Amino acid sequence: MIVGIPGETASGETRVAITPPVAKKLVGRDVSVCVTSGAGEGSDWSDEAYRDVGCDVVDDRETVFERADVICQIRGLGTNEDEPMDPYREGQIVVGTLGPYDLDDEVYDELADRQVSAFTLELMPRISRAQSMDVLSSMASIGGYKAALVAAEQLPKLFPLEMTAAGTVRPADVFVIGAGVAGLKAIATAERLGASVKGYDIRLEVKQEVESLGADFVELDLETEGSGDDEGYAVEMGEEFYEQQRKELGRVVPESDVVITTAAIPGAPAPELVSAEMIEGMDDGSVVVDLSAPTGGNCEPTVAGETVEHAGVTVFGPTNLPATVPHTASQLFANNLYNFLDHLLDDGELVLDTDDEIVDATLLTHDGTIRRPHEDGGETDDEDDATDEDEEPVEDEADA
Ligand code: NAI
Repeated sequence: MIVGIPGETASGETRVAITPPVAKKLVGRDVSVCVTSGAGEGSDWSDEAYRDVGCDVVDDRETVFERADVICQIRGLGTNEDEPMDPYREGQIVVGTLGPYDLDDEVYDELADRQVSAFTLELMPRISRAQSMDVLSSMASIGGYKAALVAAEQLPKLFPLEMTAAGTVRPADVFVIGAGVAGLKAIATAERLGASVKGYDIRLEVKQEVESLGADFVELDLETEGSGDDEGYAVEMGEEFYEQQRKELGRVVPESDVVITTAAIPGAPAPELVSAEMIEGMDDGSVVVDLSAPTGGNCEPTVAGETVEHAGVTVFGPTNLPATVPHTASQLFANNLYNFLDHLLDDGELVLDTDDEIVDATLLTHDGTIRRPHEDGGETDDEDDATDEDEEPVEDEADA
C-alpha cells in the first residue's frame, strides 16, 4: 500500500499532514510513503528528513495522486477553495479535513462516481477510543494558546500584576466565552501570563474545569436546559435565548480588556454573542480575538481572516491560528492521522468496516455511496443512491 502526501495548496497553509517521524512509523509497518518535494517546507521538515526515513520524494503532486492508494491531506475539498476537486483517482482513499458541511452536491456525486472512500476527520466522534485521532481538539488547543498570545501582544497593557518601585499595575481582565478545548487552553495560557481571567460557557458542567485552571466562572441568569446533546456538544438555541444571553453578557464584556470567543456548535454557524454595542463599551486599546471567525464569528464586528478596529477596540478574526505554529501543529495532526490509519491497518492494508463507529462517523463516500453528515453534526446519513455521497505532550520519541 502506498500512502501519499501531496502537500497543501490552501492559501496560508503551512502545515503538513504527515511528518517524517510518522512516515517512519508507516514505513516500519510495510507501508510505502510518497511525498511531494517541499511538502514539509512550511513546517520545517526537509525533503532530506523524509528521504532519511525511507520515503519516496517526487517532484510534483500529480505523481503522488497517481501513485498513492491513500492520500493524506490537512485541507482538501471543502476546506481548500483554491482546489475544490483534487485529482483523486478511481478507488482512492482520502483522509483529511474535507469540510463536509461546505461540500457541494456535485462534489459528493463526483467522489461517489469515482468510488473514492473519503474520510473527514472533523467528524471524529468524541469518544474515549477516538481521542488520539481527534484533530479538531489538537488544533483547537493550539488555537486557544495562540489566541491568548495574540491578545497579549496587541494589548497596550501588561497581562500580569506588577508591583514595582514605579507603582502597582493591576492585571489585565481577560474574558473567555466558550470553554471547550480552545477556550480552556486560552484560559490556561492567559492565566500563565498572569492575567485575571474569567470563563463562561453555556454548559454549566465545565464550571469546575474553568475554576481548576484558576479562573472565575461567570454564571448568567439563563435557563440552559436542553443546551447540550448526548455527546456533550452545545446545540443551537433559538434567537430569543441568544438575545437574553447577549443582554447578560453585556454586563461582563465592557469591563474586560480582552475578550476571546470560542463558542461553537458543530455543523452550524457560530452564535452571535457579542454585539458591536458591547465592544463600544470596552476601553480604547482593548482586544477581541474571535476564534469562531471561520464559522461566522461570535462577535458582530468580526471579519473572517481580517483584523478590524471597532470603536478603538482591535477585533481579530483569525481563520487558521494552528498554521502560525506549523511545526507543532503538524506533529499533532500527523500523530492523530497515524492513530486513525493504525485503527484501520491490518496486515499492511486499510480495512474499512462501516460497522465501526469511528469509520461510520467519518466516512463521507464509499463504494459509490454518499454518506452525508446530518446538518446538526456527528452522525452520518446513509443515502443508498449510487449515483448521488489531553493534552499528551508531543515528545520526539512519540513521533519516532
Ligand atoms: P468545542 O466544541 O470544544 O467548544 C465550543 C464551546 O462553545 C463548547 O464548550 C460549547 O458549549 C460552547 N458554546 C456553544 N454555544 C455557546 C453559547 N451560546 N454560549 C456559550 N458557550 C457556547 O470547540 P473547540 O474545539 O474549542 O473550538 C472552538 C472554535 O474555535 C471552533 O469554531 C473551532 O473551529 C475554532 N477554532 C478556530 C481556530 C482559528 O484559527 N480561528 C483554530 C482552532 C479552532
